[in-house]
Amino acid sequence: MPPQRKPIRTAVFPVAGRGTRFLPATKASPKEMLPIVDKPLIQYAAEEALAAGATQLVFITGSSKRAIEDHFDSAPELEAALEAQGKQELLESLHSIVPASATCIYIRQPAPLGLGHAVLCARPVVGDEPFFVHLADDLIDAQVPCLKQMAGVYAELGGSVLGVQTVDRKDTDKYGIVAAERMTDRLSRIQKIVEKPKPDVAPSNLAVVGRYLLSPRVFDKLEKVGRGAGGEIQLTDGIAALLADEAVYAYAFEGKRYDCGSKLGYLEATVEYGLKHPQLGDAFAGILARLLADRLRR
Ligand code: UTP
Repeated sequence: MPPQRKPIRTAVFPVAGRGTRFLPATKASPKEMLPIVDKPLIQYAAEEALAAGATQLVFITGSSKRAIEDHFDSAPELEAALEAQGKQELLESLHSIVPASATCIYIRQPAPLGLGHAVLCARPVVGDEPFFVHLADDLIDAQVPCLKQMAGVYAELGGSVLGVQTVDRKDTDKYGIVAAERMTDRLSRIQKIVEKPKPDVAPSNLAVVGRYLLSPRVFDKLEKVGRGAGGEIQLTDGIAALLADEAVYAYAFEGKRYDCGSKLGYLEATVEYGLKHPQLGDAFAGILARLLADRLRR
């Protein structure tokens, strides 16, 4: 029997980045508020964390991110107007954004000094417990939500767990890349982790994507790492330091990931979620088929 571990209570959502790849759309509004069909990325993120058992949602925000706070707040005037118009279904869609049992906490990152720095900003709220980190621009469509899968690994093994995926060799310099010893099909134990290595020096093509379940000891490491790749305080460097003391596992999750921080990944997600949408899917498939046929005829 594996030892009883407490469920993970806190999920941290770093949303203070500049989102430069999506300019000008992200000049005044957050990348994480970009919608996939009818829900913003940050709502998919919150839903995944809640499904994995988190009850405390911590958003690390920066300038131009107020829309995220407004999204998770109540909107009495809008709700009253929908009520008066008898639009119950829409009203329900507002009420179901986060359950009343969950708490949303907002911490301002004073400047975008890097993902590691953003995570460190959550320390006063997370305290001495393991926690999730979720990057909303990595959207993962899975039967069992990705963070829930990772919580299952943690329940068995403890330590820290990173969501990983194999990527094209030519793309290793966009990710944290791990060297790991295989344990099972989906699981390995990390020996080494490097941020954005060039393809010719990357230790593998196994890349960390935006899902982490971290031991609180990572905070002590992040306090000390200093600036790394791109002049930023990197979460990868904090995890690299953690490896000396504790087990960190790489978990190849079940599901499809969309890189919604890039325009093409975002478009792919929009099309696939549109096609799967219970009310819109068939009509949308018809539109796409017509558009593609027109394009092929040209
Ligand atoms: P990205 O590397 O995607 O950077 O950050 P970005 O600024 O969001 O987007 P681009 O590359 O300029 O288009 C990964 C995650 O870390 C958060 C971002 O909000 C994103 O979720 N982040 C990054 C912070 O919260 N603070 C930082 O200082 C840096």
